[in-house]
Amino acid sequence: MSATSAPSIKIIPSVLPADFARLGDECQALEQAGVDRIQFDVMDGRFVPNITFGPDVIASVRGAVSVPFEAHLMIEEPDHLISRFVEAGCELIIVHEETCTHLHRTLAHIKELGASAAVALNPHTPIDRVAHVLDLLDMALVMTVNPGFGGQKYIHTMEPKVKAMRSLLDTADHWIDLEVDGGISHSTVEGAAAAGANVLISGSWMFRHADGLAAAVTELRTLATGAYQR
Ligand code: DX5
Repeated sequence: MSATSAPSIKIIPSVLPADFARLGDECQALEQAGVDRIQFDVMDGRFVPNITFGPDVIASVRGAVSVPFEAHLMIEEPDHLISRFVEAGCELIIVHEETCTHLHRTLAHIKELGASAAVALNPHTPIDRVAHVLDLLDMALVMTVNPGFGGQKYIHTMEPKVKAMRSLLDTADHWIDLEVDGGISHSTVEGAAAAGANVLISGSWMFRHADGLAAAVTELRTLATGAYQR
């Protein structure tokens, strides 16, 4: 991608609000609604105060759709499980910087497995924690909530951090997507995109949209595209 052309805006649902009793059907509905990827929020009850699912659940719905999967690993010591999530069918793996003693080694491991690599930063974590691993990144994620639950309030004070992260990522010799996750809705997506986020995660707002998933995806994509700046 040239230095001046705008990147593609990606709209990605978190499956956290989905009906887990019908997860395969829900993934099919998301694919039909036009999402660019599906995010699985993996939580271990240690790094975050909630527990969700592991690689076997993701593998069980892999065959239901063809849209790519990303695993957001909100877990301590992710190194032990990364290969399981790739084998389960996740094309992109997101680890939290706060859980990686050897982040460079962890990201290199993800790439060696043939997956795309991303790192997430909690609201308090400074962006310079990823300054020396840009060559290994396909995406960076700036959390706009404290991770663990859907339906939380968007932290507006993260927008300067998003802007600073975009500037940092632009020093790399390749394009790196910038994702935000948490509290993204029709009323917050423009601020996030204007700050430089081109990948938007939405859970509760998307699933609760009065006009359905496809309308929610279209609304977020239209608002983000109109507001995006870097
Ligand atoms: C971390 C989770 C949530 C989820 C998005 O807590 O990763 O951020 O994806 O949830 P909403 O869109 O409901 O804030």
